[in-house]
Amino acid sequence: TNIGVFFGGRSTEHEISVISASQAMHAINREKYDVTPIYISKQGRFYTGEALFEIANYRDIPALLEKCEEVYIRPVYGDYSLYRAKSAGLFGNKGPVTTLDVVIPVLHGSNVEDGIFEGVLETIGIPYAGCDTLASANGMDKITMKMILRESGIPVIDYVWFTDKEWFAKRDELIEKIETKIGYPVIVKPANLGSSVGIGRAANREQLIEKVEVAQKYTSRIIVEHMVDNLKEINCSVLGDCDEYQSSVLEEPIKSAEILSYEDKYMGGTKGAKGMQASQKRIPADLPEEMTKRIQYLAGETFRVLSCHGVSRIDFIVDDDNNEIYVNEINTIPGSLSFYLWEATGISFDKLMDKLVQLALK
Ligand code: DAL
Ligand code: MG
Repeated sequence: TNIGVFFGGRSTEHEISVISASQAMHAINREKYDVTPIYISKQGRFYTGEALFEIANYRDIPALLEKCEEVYIRPVYGDYSLYRAKSAGLFGNKGPVTTLDVVIPVLHGSNVEDGIFEGVLETIGIPYAGCDTLASANGMDKITMKMILRESGIPVIDYVWFTDKEWFAKRDELIEKIETKIGYPVIVKPANLGSSVGIGRAANREQLIEKVEVAQKYTSRIIVEHMVDNLKEINCSVLGDCDEYQSSVLEEPIKSAEILSYEDKYMGGTKGAKGMQASQKRIPADLPEEMTKRIQYLAGETFRVLSCHGVSRIDFIVDDDNNEIYVNEINTIPGSLSFYLWEATGISFDKLMDKLVQLALK
């Protein structure tokens, strides 16, 4: 079985995806599977080659791509193969570089984790691990996600949402709605980006306007939520499909600023690309048994009602003042595929990869 691992992509989380994919590819049992890395450049072009396995090579992308072959994926006679991009033109068909049996997308963020990549795979019919287009799209858009969860009785933090057109057309009306429905402080987010990109806190009207402008640089769909003052972030991964799934032990990311920044999450608080393990977390999170169970249950419910598949990570906010638990977001392709949570639950990284392949081929 040849596993095609796709990563990178036209996303603000491109670099994190490279780290996650590198970890995942090294964890795959090579006695059982072949692995083909497929790097999606920031321009959206596909490349393959042995050099893509080595994380140090990503310091110089042009040099790395020199050593790789640009390819495209195409279904031919029921096989899904990678062909040299060059062979698409005048040079005729020189045969495939390799044939893939199953795909594991290790892509984070908008333009990739939101289902568009899965749409390509569904169009050509190749089996793949993880959420389908619908679940990915619903999971990525915080507005749609909250609507579904709220409808399903899963607790989410109060919110107001709008498009940038609406903001320009009836800003005062929206501000009033935010102030009466939610009240300051609020947190302003682009609806469909991950990893804290474009997120800001606002304690008054002036800051609200400012933070909405920041968020609008990233997307036209904005969500404003009530800001829980004293909170804990708790994450839980879920593995399986809608029929059968299990929740992992819980993780508490340790925060160093008001809102967990991109650097906190992935760079261990420094700007250098040290990798994700450097970020601080407590595993298992130090919570009462009952609350742990409740969070694990809600994580499973979130996975189920969004029709998820494979491995996801559901991020919660616990209000320290009253112990209320809210689902904050879902990552349908979580950083590092949440392997560290599965290891702590008793499933090794190579078993996790095995399980993802089995689920994809089921
Ligand atoms: N979106 C990133 C990778 C995460 O939260 O895991
Ligand atoms: Mg995220």
